[in-house]
Amino acid sequence: MTSENTLIDEIVSLCKRRGFVFQSSEIYGGFNGFFDYGPLGVELRRNIKDAWWDDMVRRRDDMVGLDSGIIMNPEIWKASGHVDGFSDPMVDCKDSKMRYRADQLFAAEIKVDGESLGWVCLLESISMQDEAEKKAELTKRKAAKQGKLEAVDLRPFDELTKEEQAQVPSPATGKVGALTEPRDFNMMFETNVGALRDASSTAYLRPETAQGIFANFKNIVDTGRVKLPFGIAQIGKAFRNEITPRNFIFRSREFEQMEIEYFIPQGEDVWQRYHQEWIDTRRSWFNSIGLTPEYLGEEVHPKEKLAHYAKACTDITFKFPFGEHELEGIAARGNFDLTQHQTHSGKNLEFFDEGTKQKFLPHVIEPSLGVDRTFLAVICSSYQVDEVEGEKRTVLRFHPRVAPIKVGVFPLVKNKPELVDRARKLYLSLQRKWNVIYDQSGAIGRRYRRIDEVGVPFGVTVDFDTIEGDGSVTLRDRDTTNQQRLSEEDLFSYLEEKINL
Ligand code: GAP
Repeated sequence: MTSENTLIDEIVSLCKRRGFVFQSSEIYGGFNGFFDYGPLGVELRRNIKDAWWDDMVRRRDDMVGLDSGIIMNPEIWKASGHVDGFSDPMVDCKDSKMRYRADQLFAAEIKVDGESLGWVCLLESISMQDEAEKKAELTKRKAAKQGKLEAVDLRPFDELTKEEQAQVPSPATGKVGALTEPRDFNMMFETNVGALRDASSTAYLRPETAQGIFANFKNIVDTGRVKLPFGIAQIGKAFRNEITPRNFIFRSREFEQMEIEYFIPQGEDVWQRYHQEWIDTRRSWFNSIGLTPEYLGEEVHPKEKLAHYAKACTDITFKFPFGEHELEGIAARGNFDLTQHQTHSGKNLEFFDEGTKQKFLPHVIEPSLGVDRTFLAVICSSYQVDEVEGEKRTVLRFHPRVAPIKVGVFPLVKNKPELVDRARKLYLSLQRKWNVIYDQSGAIGRRYRRIDEVGVPFGVTVDFDTIEGDGSVTLRDRDTTNQQRLSEEDLFSYLEEKINL
């Protein structure tokens, strides 16, 4: 097992142990691709969403919000292209009944001095190249070949020719000929609306929040007094019947998105400028909530791999323990969506620009981010095992703004009523502003360790000096473990400055 695998396992275990994330329906054996968020997880999610909403909507003059329904008129998904085209290539193993995404299945021919010894096939992972090379070596040894093993060139299954695909062994059984050819699998979850269950009642759980925004474009323009450029933002659940949900909450079947459709005037240089502005804005936002800057990267989609409607797309990537992957996609979608909805609905969706007195369908830049992926990136950036006073400590170094609990309040000892009363009073007044906890059990050092593990940035201890001296309390910083004495009034302004950004 690689250290990367160990790291994600440690994170998954901490998330469960301390009530961040649970497997869905666990008492029934779980439900693949679904997760539940526990008491600390729900706070972290809320804080991430609030930070995004505050920074992207409330603190900007050019943005408005929306909350559209999960289930909408199915015509929307025909117009958007999802009914016909929202699919991933799927491959089945006829023997094991395992199902794979063809672009996540990698295969290479094993060749010694030009002679083929068969193929190796594995699921995409950070260590797949190493594993494939080991398998190739083993195959060569078993075949007792003396020559030179050629470079193992792993390629996605869906990029192999039909003849090559037919020679690839199933990763489940090792049998050649067990894998089917890739077939398109539509990822939308279907449901039926109303008492009838037939084709006319089919509807879909939205696979993205974006289409709710396009469908309401006219409503917002007619009611919102908006001027170009302006954006519409939405946070909400999305559902995709992913063929292989994996990597914990990175790819699940029910997740939440934070999406912006930013409408701009037409013109080649116009969209390029706004596209870059959004890439920069979104990157600095990730830094502001405490994601490790060295883990963030960018990947520009090559022109030939762009979706048919996109003019450009840049992913902001994050180095997760299982590899560097998309955290947020920032696409320039032209006016594809508004054009489609105008054509399919028969309603004029043109925007009248007061300045130029022109009517047109604006273009759009779409920064689209998953709450759950951000949650995982926040945990991965924060998780650390270090040493304090010669003892190993597990700590989550959450940025105070997103930390689920902001402050732990402790009376130094629990058997002195004056200390306990004073600490309870302080706890209650802090609670009116932030999510805080009170803990009086165990030695103070142990209490600090407990809050470190769940990422509480500040600990406040009420001691004898507080009740007998000047009323000051001890403030302990999670990251430095430094302590300072502050009056209660200074404590509030200190916390305000650190937390309420
Ligand atoms: N409207 C554009 C759109 O939905 P996307 O790249 O398919 O684009 C945007 O999704 C973001 O949503 C991704 O960058 C990711 O953060 C999140 N996301 C997509 N599929 C996901 C899944 N199955 N599980 C968790 N998050 C997902």
